[in-house]
Amino acid sequence: MTTFLTTKHYSQRQNAHLTFKHNLKHGRHGWLRLTPAYSVKLVSDILADKTPDAKVIDPFSGTGTTPLCATYLGLKSTGLEINPFLVWFSSVKARMFNPTVIQTTQELGVSIAEASSSPKSLKLDPPPIHNISRWWDKEELEYLCKLKACICDATKDMTGERDLLLVTFCRTVIALSNAAFNHQSMSFKSNDNRPGLFDSQLNHSSVFRKELAFVLEGAADNPNTTACIITGDARQPSRYVRDKYDILITSPPYPNRISYIREMRPYMYWLDYLTNGRDAGELDWQAIGGTWGIATSRLTDWKPSENAFVPKALKKAISGISRQENANGVLLANYVSKYFDDIWHHIKDVPKVLNDCAEVHYIVGNSSFYGTLLPVEEIYKDMLEQAGFKDVQILRIRKRNSKAELFEFDVTGKKSRNKSM
Ligand SMILES: C[S@@+](CC[C@H](N)C(=O)[O-])C[C@H]1O[C@@H](n2cnc3c(N)ncnc32)[C@H](O)[C@@H]1O
Repeated sequence: MTTFLTTKHYSQRQNAHLTFKHNLKHGRHGWLRLTPAYSVKLVSDILADKTPDAKVIDPFSGTGTTPLCATYLGLKSTGLEINPFLVWFSSVKARMFNPTVIQTTQELGVSIAEASSSPKSLKLDPPPIHNISRWWDKEELEYLCKLKACICDATKDMTGERDLLLVTFCRTVIALSNAAFNHQSMSFKSNDNRPGLFDSQLNHSSVFRKELAFVLEGAADNPNTTACIITGDARQPSRYVRDKYDILITSPPYPNRISYIREMRPYMYWLDYLTNGRDAGELDWQAIGGTWGIATSRLTDWKPSENAFVPKALKKAISGISRQENANGVLLANYVSKYFDDIWHHIKDVPKVLNDCAEVHYIVGNSSFYGTLLPVEEIYKDMLEQAGFKDVQILRIRKRNSKAELFEFDVTGKKSRNKSM
């Protein structure tokens, strides 16, 4: 039976329990932070009354919140994600780890903590991140170069152990950094707020040990099934996914110019998913809503697809944003048009991977450009209806930040029965 979320779940407040903040305390869900990741509670509430044979898909699966929630409930699930680092990370998050792997990782962790504290330790070169000294002070950077070398050396020919230690490494990378997470996207701590505590090798390795304990605690809490995470482009899910699903829960990128590549760059450079800024820009251009580096300059020449569907609300917003008095109005109007051009490709194709009457939940946030409100939720609703979904509703979930007009919504609907869409 299908039950949609009821309004009792929603309010005008900034419900922190419906965001990534809630995830941080929840075992594997808290392993790494992606600011726009939505919450375990939101997904678990939607999945709570589903029958055990229900199959779940998230076409923009990010850090894998949806697949992991589904696997804990014993439901079969698939995630589709374009960012290779996130594909690796979410696959580790949703994997089963046997007690021997956890025990071996624990033992390796003790010797790695010791080896990486030694002045004679192996050491790798630092990653080619732009302006690296803003990220890590000299001692922290040197320690991380040693830690990475020790992890790679100690886990040759091991998969599970290496993956768990690399997740721990990613947590240590952030714990020892000058990064601050008090904004919607990542920024840097001021000089006064930098760690400064880590003046001895001992402190560095105790940070690593603490992060390892957190990761291993989550690893021991195994899910009830495994999830499948696929690298692919959600503009055409049917190209990558063979099965058909009963529930789609997803949080696509919002049209708010947040770049996931930019957010993920410390991890991506340290784990060799990125080696230069140009590739970072290319990856961002491939992602929906990407806007970093080369992605921005390409928007100037971008042209809409011939078969684009442009709902009235979108047309109106684009004309408001591109007004002459708005300095970058034309560029931002192109950004918004391309975003919805991509989303339309997704919405047109997604019925091919859904069973009849499948339930969909698009968790989206609205935006505002030069005072023109972009009613993202209404545009999704129009697109879903145009693609043949029925009972499409918009449910307001929470207020997003201090701006009175910005909210997050759940746009829900059902795939029509027996209709080729
Ligand atoms: C809001 S985040 C999803 C967060 C996710 N719900 C979580 O809990 O971590 C949107 C995700 O969509 C991914 N993405 C962007 N464009 C994509 C595309 N064309 N195909 C698949 N994934 C894409 C981004 O890399 C990002 O991870």
